[in-house]
Amino acid sequence: MGYDLKMRVWRGDESGGDLADYVVPVEEGEVVLDALHRLQATQAGDLAVRWNCKAGKCGSCSAEINGKPRLTCMTRLSIFDPDETVTVTPLRTFPVIRDLVTDVSYNYEKAKQVPAFAPEPRRPDGTYRMQQEDVERGQEFRKCIECYLCQTVCHVVRDHDDNKRAFSGPRFFLRYAELEMHPLDTNDHREAARDEAGVGLCNITKCCTEVCPEGIKITDNAIIPVKERVVDRRYDPLVWLGSKIFRR
Ligand code: SF4
Ligand code: F3S
Ligand code: FES
Repeated sequence: MGYDLKMRVWRGDESGGDLADYVVPVEEGEVVLDALHRLQATQAGDLAVRWNCKAGKCGSCSAEINGKPRLTCMTRLSIFDPDETVTVTPLRTFPVIRDLVTDVSYNYEKAKQVPAFAPEPRRPDGTYRMQQEDVERGQEFRKCIECYLCQTVCHVVRDHDDNKRAFSGPRFFLRYAELEMHPLDTNDHREAARDEAGVGLCNITKCCTEVCPEGIKITDNAIIPVKERVVDRRYDPLVWLGSKIFRR
């Protein structure tokens, strides 16, 4: 059965803004993005909202709902009490462009820093071969829809904007892990993960894993293995000696 949803939506731009109150009629089975679209269609025609697929697959509609980073298209209104006010604000970690739309170019800059996949030469029969378990390990990382919810929730940059220069964030630790675990990749990514991506700044709070809409175990399956490999290289005397000898 439909009801009148109390909404509070952040309105403004890079020069500042505030929360605005609305009452939006909603129907059973709808999601927060439906309510935002109805608000836009009936009361706030200039409301800026980014979205694309409405199916949890494009990663565009990320926002903070009652303070928690979520996909607006995958957040059912039924999880809230009908009397509750639903507050929608832009992703806090990125600069606001307008209303709920933020400038996520920090993430594109960090993506550019990740070295490209560099496979070893093909075998004489023209093929590449890898074990099935290596194929499956990488599949989890490739489920990422680049919604950047993990990036916005991570306190390393959420509370410390000045860390952005030195920290790539959980989404990109996934990429380092995928390359580092890929049996055909010829690069050693451990120094880059430590020095350019700043994996050492992560103190394993796991907030990134909690908000990931794809259920990727970012901390356990990507960040901790990358951290372990970085530490092995740095503190294992044999690894250190080997790297010195082979550099000559
Ligand atoms: Fe979004 Fe998960 Fe990818 Fe982070 S890892 S960008 S939370 S899908
Ligand atoms: Fe941040 Fe995730 Fe590490 S939230 S601190 S990257 S475990
Ligand atoms: Fe595509 Fe929400 S609109 S993930």
